[in-house]
Amino acid sequence: MTAEYQVHGDVAVITLNNPPVNGLGLATRQGIVDGLAKAEDDASVKAIVITGAGGAFSGGADIKEFGTPKSLQDPNLHSVIRALENCSKPVVAAIHTVCMGGGLELALGCHYRVGAPGCAVALPEVKLGILPGAGGTQRLPRVIGVEPALNMIVTGETVQSDMLAMIPGQKLFDKLTASKESLADEALAFARSVADARPLPLVRNLPCKHPKGEAYFQFARNMVKGMAKNFPAPLKCVDAVQAATTSRNFEDGLMTERELFLNLMMTPESRSLRHLFFAERAASKIPDVPSDTPKRDIKKVGVIGAGTMGGGISMNFLNAGIPVTILEMKQDALDRGIAIIRKNYEAQVKKGKLKQDKYEARMALLSTSLAYEDLKDCDLIIEAVFEDMGVKEQVFSKLDEVAKQGAILASNTSTLDVNQIASFTKRPQDVVGMHFFSPANVMKLLEVVRGEKTAKDVLATVMALGKKIKKTAVVSGVCDGFIGNRMIERYSQQAGFLLDEGATPEQVDKAIEKFGFPMGPFRMIDMAGNDIGWAIRKRRYVEQPDMKYSKTADLLCEMGRFGQKTSAGWYDYEAGKRDAKPSAVVLKMIEDYRAQQGIAPRKISDDEIVQRLIFSLVNEGAKILEEGIASKSGDIDMVYLTGYGFPIWRGGPMHYAGEVGLFNVVQAMKRFARNPHDDANAWAPSRLIVDLAAQGKTFE
Ligand code: 3HC
Ligand code: NAI
Repeated sequence: MTAEYQVHGDVAVITLNNPPVNGLGLATRQGIVDGLAKAEDDASVKAIVITGAGGAFSGGADIKEFGTPKSLQDPNLHSVIRALENCSKPVVAAIHTVCMGGGLELALGCHYRVGAPGCAVALPEVKLGILPGAGGTQRLPRVIGVEPALNMIVTGETVQSDMLAMIPGQKLFDKLTASKESLADEALAFARSVADARPLPLVRNLPCKHPKGEAYFQFARNMVKGMAKNFPAPLKCVDAVQAATTSRNFEDGLMTERELFLNLMMTPESRSLRHLFFAERAASKIPDVPSDTPKRDIKKVGVIGAGTMGGGISMNFLNAGIPVTILEMKQDALDRGIAIIRKNYEAQVKKGKLKQDKYEARMALLSTSLAYEDLKDCDLIIEAVFEDMGVKEQVFSKLDEVAKQGAILASNTSTLDVNQIASFTKRPQDVVGMHFFSPANVMKLLEVVRGEKTAKDVLATVMALGKKIKKTAVVSGVCDGFIGNRMIERYSQQAGFLLDEGATPEQVDKAIEKFGFPMGPFRMIDMAGNDIGWAIRKRRYVEQPDMKYSKTADLLCEMGRFGQKTSAGWYDYEAGKRDAKPSAVVLKMIEDYRAQQGIAPRKISDDEIVQRLIFSLVNEGAKILEEGIASKSGDIDMVYLTGYGFPIWRGGPMHYAGEVGLFNVVQAMKRFARNPHDDANAWAPSRLIVDLAAQGKTFE
């Protein structure tokens, strides 16, 4: 039983007790209905209080039950709310903290609501690609007004109980208590004060109109359309709230809401968002590192290298109130790095995103140094120097001499072997990869690279720290490129083959941008710099001589076209501008290369472009899973959603492959492998994908 029943004198108290957030799963729903029946049967009970144990009144319907028979099994949430409304004795919701989704809908089904100050109230269903499906769209407008309710429902944002209680004429809270601590007593007293009130008030009986009627909803629809982009749910929220104002009666409004809710639940966008909800939380959990693993105290951070990455990395810690010392080889490099940090903060101040005093407080936490000695009291030192094993060796050997015992030594390397880097020290257990993405103060993703010898408490500390600096931390094992860059290598390889076979950079970019990426591969690499990939390829030509590439990217670099920074890359750029214009020179270079290779160009469809780019990610992702580089497919999706611009509504490459069907993915891969201009080895399907496809399963 996940709802407890107790009697306090003449008031029965039903306490939801389904940790962590009192999700309204089947057993909890049953517990509420059973509690109500007991209270009805007990003549000494005059009123009922419903409240939640622990840190939430209720976080809403149990999302884990979605798509399972339990979610529909009686008593469903509608039946529970009906039982509350029909109870012959007054039912009071006592809300002490989180009251969200189905939890708020449950409270709105009670006759009265008593809230503590500072409760987090929301109908966040839209963030899961659905809308409130247990009367929220019909009842919330009746208690706080149509416009505030629509705002909450369309955005899913949380509003504090104090703010809601200030809405003139609001009927959401009958009483706001003096404090969280006094809620239980005040709710009991309130229940006693209404024990004899009849008839019992029901939210469903309140009127619901907007003075401007259709004109207002048309305006709202126009606003929401722009914001909703590829998600269908926000506009359906408008339809549902409008139904609250136009339906013949309350039950008709509920029916409209139900129909919209069930339709949204079936959409791929909602499946993706629900996957994202769990994948995001699961990413912080490492299978063999228990959640109670002790963590090291990180009070001071050292950063080595004040270049592109070092500056941004430092800002993350300054923003979180953690002092940072940046070390460089020369004063002018330090000065340049600090000036960029200042410029970034000043831009935020100018835009009103950061207060001047906060900016100053952050800068006051920053110190600079040219001497390793100054890092000896740092609890974490992150290296962001040149991507060269020799330089990394110098830095880590030096760190091993000066860093205090127990300090975590991290590398921001994007491709190098973290085990080898750890071997430059006598404390490999303290060495870990912390792979930030550029710009490091903006990008959410942090790949935490687990070396063979990295200690569990080091991992636990870095994961917790990732949360503190507001990153999505995902663990990767050691391999060339870790999760993200190893996969993008295959994607870039396909982009090159597509050029060889007849596509233009613009066509490839447009096709994948239509799929939902903010930028196609050629615009992206022009922004990052073509020379970086060139250097990596040169190394790989030696290390992996069998790997097949289009040579067009190298030819481009030989022409000095490194991208935006040289105003010429795959596209032409006007100096200082970012608008990519197709380049006749590049098209000619590609045509000449095709001719030289004896490839007759063909028309390539956008579908083929998207499939080859995305399925190349999927196959490499499957190999990464199979090798244990990633521990779950959701981690790979999180990497792509937070670090590579994979469209959120498609849920990440591995989830998307499940939506397409792994059988279909394998069939397509076999087709691509037969293409003589492609790399058959790259398309050799991973064992995992073949097995799952044969069983009709997905990666999840
Ligand atoms: N169902 C099931 N599990 C839930 C849940 C829910 N509604 N809400 C949170 N959880 C779980 C999380 O998965 C996580 O589990 P884990 O520890 O095993 O990973 C745990 O609760 C804690 O969650 P957070 O890490 O997010 O903890 P926070 O303290 O940061 O936040 C919260 C708590 C504000 C409740 C946040 O979890 C949240 O926003 N939850 C989603 C709420 C939501 O979307 N509710 C609507 C559900 S749909 C619905 O009600 C349909 C109805 O209209 C019919
Ligand atoms: P960068 O060239 O902009 O900066 C490197 C800085 O390190 C320079 O300021 C240099 O003076 C300093 N430096 C070099 N050797 C040093 C030493 N021995 N001691 C102290 N300082 C030293 O390079 P960037 O782009 O910041 O890259 C740094 C690291 O981050 C590399 O390992 C790179 O692979 C990785 N990385 C880079 C990303 C990017 O997009 N630029 C993304 C993710 C990781």
